[in-house]
Amino acid sequence: MKYNEQDLTEIIEGLSQKQKSLPSKFFYDQKGSELFDQICELDEYYQTRTEAKIMTDNIDQITSVFENNTLLIEFGSGSSLKTRLLLEHLPNLSGYIPIDISKDHLLKSVKQLRFEFPDLEIAPMIADYTRALTFPPIHRAVEHKVTFFPGSTIGNFQPEYAKEFLRVIADECGQNGGLLIGVDLKKEEKILYDAYNDSKGVTAEFNINILRRINREFDGDFVLNYFDHEAVYNSEHGRIEMHLICNKDKQVHIADKNITFKKGESILTEYSYKYSIEEFAALASDVFVLRNYWTDENRLFCVMYFDVK
Ligand code: AVJ
Repeated sequence: MKYNEQDLTEIIEGLSQKQKSLPSKFFYDQKGSELFDQICELDEYYQTRTEAKIMTDNIDQITSVFENNTLLIEFGSGSSLKTRLLLEHLPNLSGYIPIDISKDHLLKSVKQLRFEFPDLEIAPMIADYTRALTFPPIHRAVEHKVTFFPGSTIGNFQPEYAKEFLRVIADECGQNGGLLIGVDLKKEEKILYDAYNDSKGVTAEFNINILRRINREFDGDFVLNYFDHEAVYNSEHGRIEMHLICNKDKQVHIADKNITFKKGESILTEYSYKYSIEEFAALASDVFVLRNYWTDENRLFCVMYFDVK
């Protein structure tokens, strides 16, 4: 069997720490992406629909910050309602670079977008944006680069890495550049808890699926029933922590490696940081200045526009 060696190294390293962990980007295989789409439809998971509503309600103001000859770069998704909304209201873009880790998902949505926006140059990039990036060339003149980073994916990064990543974006967008970003806000704990412990168990299934993927792609032998979903809000750090709790002492094999699990031990699969508007602006302030932001009436979610400093 042939494994992606870089991925395998990350997996084994994560599972060799005292607090075992797996990178949350491994959630998004075919089935994981489908499960995530189902999460977005859940009553308890307010994020997706709230962000979409904020964008719809304020689209004229949001797109008014875009100047002529802007290149739009998007991290993740690429197929969403939010992307379409932006593209429909930005007929004069120099081009559009959607970046995604999931090849099939990306190419499928690009095909559809090319059909819907025949005059727009779309240059997709299949990349793991937690690693290095080199953008493809665009034919039309580019005077501004704006990155769109929706969905509060930035919340998956620990603050020090989020800072680093924001710096990479600012460097890439350069002078006159900008960042349009969706950020999930701090709120009543019950709302957060329910969003990650939905009554249909879709989030639990999404969490467990990461093990199924490792079994398939890295020749693992995780027994899925030996792991239980847990998501808790850590108020000290302002983050949701998703874990898989092992309910049985067990040796697990991945590729040619052995990992020992003790009953009660957990694998940390995801952090999802929540910020206040001020906290996030401060986090970005080394490289970005907040120009404007839009939020919903319940202040659940925020869409922010930053200028590169
Ligand atoms: C796509 C990273 C924003 O953190 O809420 C949903 C992923 N995890 N339910 C999030 C997720 C569990 C989601 N992000």
